[in-house]
Amino acid sequence: MTSPPLHWLRGEKTPLYLAPQAGVSESPFRRLCRRFGADVVVSEFVSAAGIVMNSRRSRDYLRFDEEERPIGIQIFGADPAMMADAAAFVAEVYAPDFIDINFGCPVKKVVKRNGGSGCLRDLELVRRIVRAVDDATPLPTTVKIRSGFDEKTRDPVRIGLVCQEAGAQAICLHPRTRADMYSGEARWEEIAALVEAVEIPVIGNGDVRTGGDARRMRDETGCAAIMIARGSHGYPWIFREARAALDGKPIPPPPSVEERFRVCLEHARNAIRFERNPERAIIDFRKHLGWYTKGLPDGRRLRTELFQSETLEDVERLLERYLEEQRALDQAPLTGVS
Ligand SMILES: Cc1cc2nc3c(=O)[nH]c(=O)nc-3n(C[C@H](O)[C@H](O)[C@H](O)COP(=O)(O)O)c2cc1C
Repeated sequence: MTSPPLHWLRGEKTPLYLAPQAGVSESPFRRLCRRFGADVVVSEFVSAAGIVMNSRRSRDYLRFDEEERPIGIQIFGADPAMMADAAAFVAEVYAPDFIDINFGCPVKKVVKRNGGSGCLRDLELVRRIVRAVDDATPLPTTVKIRSGFDEKTRDPVRIGLVCQEAGAQAICLHPRTRADMYSGEARWEEIAALVEAVEIPVIGNGDVRTGGDARRMRDETGCAAIMIARGSHGYPWIFREARAALDGKPIPPPPSVEERFRVCLEHARNAIRFERNPERAIIDFRKHLGWYTKGLPDGRRLRTELFQSETLEDVERLLERYLEEQRALDQAPLTGVS
């Protein structure tokens, strides 16, 4: 028997999503987060034009493993017909569990062509895009929005209602405007207002940094699911912590440094295997190295060295040396204390 569409949003538990993130939510990281408790993952945003032209870069972004399911492929663009063609192609060739439309990206290059959050200036365009994508595939269509383009157009409820009416089956809200970028706090009360206003499930997103935040977001907004982006950087453990907090269980202790490094290296190996160009892969992986080593004693020196490494072996050697140095420090007798 096949499961109903978006079945994970129909159960008792509040599912956790790994957010779509350009340059971060790639297949190796998605697999890791699924293992640590993310219930659903989403690809980074892929240009509809790139998909329709069958560009190599887009094809790379669209690859995923069966073990990542349920997975959504996120697409962006401002031309309803092209968005429909891209969605139909993705559905037929890649068969993800849902197609997600990006109405949130604040990046200038995308917004300039009315893509991402640029669409939020014209709700008629939003309606046409959602309808076109939804008509083009048998897969469920979901949307990811910001609260508006700027303060003047800020109206997440209205945007949500337009998306619902046009056929969206779930809506994720990051309650900041495009003008906010990432400044200030995400206004969770807007998530609560959207939950009240629409019938489709609402996925809450924005500023979930700890397991406790995930529980608070659910309790304060009544959202059907929680999406995490920056809180997962170098810390896939956030998903098991959020799961425990949502289930009212004790939050597991944070991982030891050894465990962090073990997972970091596993992630790096998979990233290198996944990339066609291993040298490029290790350079692209530097951001993750920065995140996995954030907050460690004497971490700055370690990071400076890691950012210069050109091979996986360099990274392994530096992490091993760091652990040895820390062990030696732990064992050193205290001097100068009478
Ligand atoms: C590095 C990075 C890349 C992102 N790329 C995308 C993207 O491709 N598509 C998208 O809808 N949102 C993207 N976002 C936004 C996140 O999905 C999320 O909405 C935002 O970071 C707020 O959630 P957070 O507070 O948990 O980080 C990106 C965010 C970051 C930090």
